[in-house]
Amino acid sequence: MSIAIQLSGALPADTEVVGIGVFSDHLSAGEIAKPLDAGFLSSQGFTAKPGESQVAPLPDGQLVVALGLGAREEAGSAVFRRAAAALARAAGRKERVATTLLDDVPDGVDPVEVARAMAEGVVLGAYRYTALKSDPEASTIARVDVVGSGDGLAEALDEGAVVADAVCLARDLVNQPGGELTPRAFADRASELAAAGRFTADVLGRDAIEAEKMGGLLGVNRGSDEEPRFVTLAWEPEDPRGTVALVGKGITFDSGGLSLKTAEGMIGMKCDMAGAAAVLATFSALDRLRPPVRVLGFLPLTDNMPGGDATRVGDVLRIRNGTTVEVLNTDAEGRLVLADGLAMATEAEPDAIVDLATLTGACMVALGPGIAGLMGNDEDLLGQVQAAADAVDEDVWPLPLPDDLRPKLDSEVADLKNIAGGRWGGALIAGIFLREFVDDTPWAHLDIAGPAEAQDEDAETRKGGTGFGVRTLLHLLADFEPPQAPAG
Ligand code: BES
Ligand code: MN
Ligand code: ZN
Repeated sequence: MSIAIQLSGALPADTEVVGIGVFSDHLSAGEIAKPLDAGFLSSQGFTAKPGESQVAPLPDGQLVVALGLGAREEAGSAVFRRAAAALARAAGRKERVATTLLDDVPDGVDPVEVARAMAEGVVLGAYRYTALKSDPEASTIARVDVVGSGDGLAEALDEGAVVADAVCLARDLVNQPGGELTPRAFADRASELAAAGRFTADVLGRDAIEAEKMGGLLGVNRGSDEEPRFVTLAWEPEDPRGTVALVGKGITFDSGGLSLKTAEGMIGMKCDMAGAAAVLATFSALDRLRPPVRVLGFLPLTDNMPGGDATRVGDVLRIRNGTTVEVLNTDAEGRLVLADGLAMATEAEPDAIVDLATLTGACMVALGPGIAGLMGNDEDLLGQVQAAADAVDEDVWPLPLPDDLRPKLDSEVADLKNIAGGRWGGALIAGIFLREFVDDTPWAHLDIAGPAEAQDEDAETRKGGTGFGVRTLLHLLADFEPPQAPAG
């Protein structure tokens, strides 16, 4: 982490920028920020919406920033995360930042949760993908003093920073171009992170993937000059309460294969490994956050290219668990590599499997660009995933897996085909396909095609990779209870 976020008893004398919370029903930043009085704030059009900020200089050159908190009754951790992100942005090229936002936590809101969210907000608001810019303009913030005192606040700030660093790692991976972050480069990155983060990463190359009979991953890889990789991650605390397996779609670039995408449809398809990125980034934080469960990760990695020996439409692939799949659209490749990943996860006999995948445009049609679709086969687990997402303010919404759509995946020549044909329910069809590979293991599927990449900015998000899912996964693991089999 490059930004040191710490709890302080008072504003340090060398502070360059001070962030002060302002509720919409009382437009004033109070005593320490006289220039930000109601007259000035309203003259600038500042209405204290969450995420809004207004900067003013003090006579000694210090900057004060009014941070919108909206209506007091509605100010929870999401609002404070956003305000802290707005502060990080408003701090521009300064280094020493402080805030009194903890003074504004309304009664009935847990200040520990707010502190965690604020630390996240600072790091997320300061994030930029600068690796390929000649003139980077990265944030210069070195230190943020959060003024306040109370049990658990300092730890919560640390935790929030760790979580947000993981989110930023996922963003970096998603933003990295597909020609650079190849499957090999991704796997190398996993190995590096494993060494630093005290988890293990076991990398299979082409021949080993063949020996392990992962026909879905190999079939998608056939059209590419880049070798595939399959990465298995593991992290284990003492006395784990259970085991959770995380599976991430790792298509480092999705051209569609022979069922080639349009020029427009291909833009942004470097993001098609956002599921794998979220899983790897989650692992990077485990040894710092120490959830009470063993965590396994399964990452099928390849690009989906239309080379001369690419999988032909009508070819039949044999997935690791023996299921044969007729490929009628090579652009429905995510489910093919996930089938192998889910089969591997199932063999490990975890208490639950959660997969994340930028799987279908149809999910974006259903839920819009910002909300992930949540599907699965176990109400208890689905409840835990939904609760985790709600707790960390990631937008997730349940979708059904109706049994009567299953026959649409029947094939004339194989056990399954990879598309249903027809326009309707594409996100559900993909989920129903995946369900075939988890047996009876409690399983949840997050279709993150929309929220993995942001088209618009807000205080805590830049255009491009969002790191969606990392916060939900880390919260899920922290609170995880092995799902109870339904009675009867
Ligand atoms: N990676 C895409 C899904 C996607 C679309 C992710 C837009 C992010 C933004 C996936 O591999 C895909 O191409 N899905 C097809 C499935 C279809 C061929 C059944 C789709 O959604 O069109
Ligand atoms: Mn595709
Ligand atoms: Zn894809």
